[in-house]
Amino acid sequence: MTAIGTLKNTSNDTLREVLTRLEKEGAALGHFNVSDQVLLKAVVAAAAETKLPVLIGASEGEREFFGARQLAALVRSDREESDLPIFLNADHTHSLAKALEAAKAGFDAVTIDFSALPFEENVARTKETVQAIKAVNPAILAEGEIGDIGTGSEIKETAQGGKLSTPEEARQFVEATGIDNLAPAVGNMHGMLKSMVQGKAKKHLDLERIAQIKQAAGVFLTLHGGSGTDDEHFRRAIAAGINIIHINTELRVAWRESLGESLARDPNEVVPYKILRPVVDSVKQVVSSRLRLFHGQPVSPEAVGTVA
Ligand code: G3H
Ligand code: ZN
Repeated sequence: MTAIGTLKNTSNDTLREVLTRLEKEGAALGHFNVSDQVLLKAVVAAAAETKLPVLIGASEGEREFFGARQLAALVRSDREESDLPIFLNADHTHSLAKALEAAKAGFDAVTIDFSALPFEENVARTKETVQAIKAVNPAILAEGEIGDIGTGSEIKETAQGGKLSTPEEARQFVEATGIDNLAPAVGNMHGMLKSMVQGKAKKHLDLERIAQIKQAAGVFLTLHGGSGTDDEHFRRAIAAGINIIHINTELRVAWRESLGESLARDPNEVVPYKILRPVVDSVKQVVSSRLRLFHGQPVSPEAVGTVA
């Protein structure tokens, strides 16, 4: 195993190279969702602060609000300016048309999500989409999803999610679809319970299942629904074979909380960049803290999951 962080990250690295390298180092790539430029600035600032690679994600809804081509252009320019490996993923893409739109806009990866369909249909639609986006860009990373981990990066009353994924269905799915990375259901869940937002409860993962799925699937593994997960479970999940970790709700909570505080600080303040600067800063702290954790570096306990 190479010591974490000893290899230089540059903007010339491809997403596949970064993932391969991080796996050897025992680290995972942080995936952070953005739906506005404040969140984007925060993720890029965290990458610059930590000098670590990041995968920026935007779901169909987030892309619709931001503009898929506009987001791709901004990320390209951030990557060039920072000389860091900053990548872009079309998160939770539910149709061939939206996947193609993202591939043509220059996204580095697509999370193809037909996981709500019966297994055989999921296989067929995913396979078709993998072939179509690779015809646009052979280097694009295609992710497929199996199992049910609930939907929506929001604050929830009750836990969501269904049956956990099995190593056998993971093996079959990878073999039949030609995906590059797999997102299974391993005790993870989209969104956070109120108790998690308050820092009183944490998500726990089925670590043994992750290791079994990794062995059966033989591809990169993605953990969705990362917000509110216990730090030690993150470390052990990476050791068990997780390569990419998605975080969204934690960023949204920090965004809303700090925006509220910033607006309340001075009711006469009307300058957007003065109001929004502290918001960028507070989201950046969450992202930096998660990035450090995913790369085996020390983290301060205050940064995440303690919003009142
Ligand atoms: O695709 C996005 C995520 O899986 C984020 O989940 O909101 O629970 O962090 P989260
Ligand atoms: Zn997700």
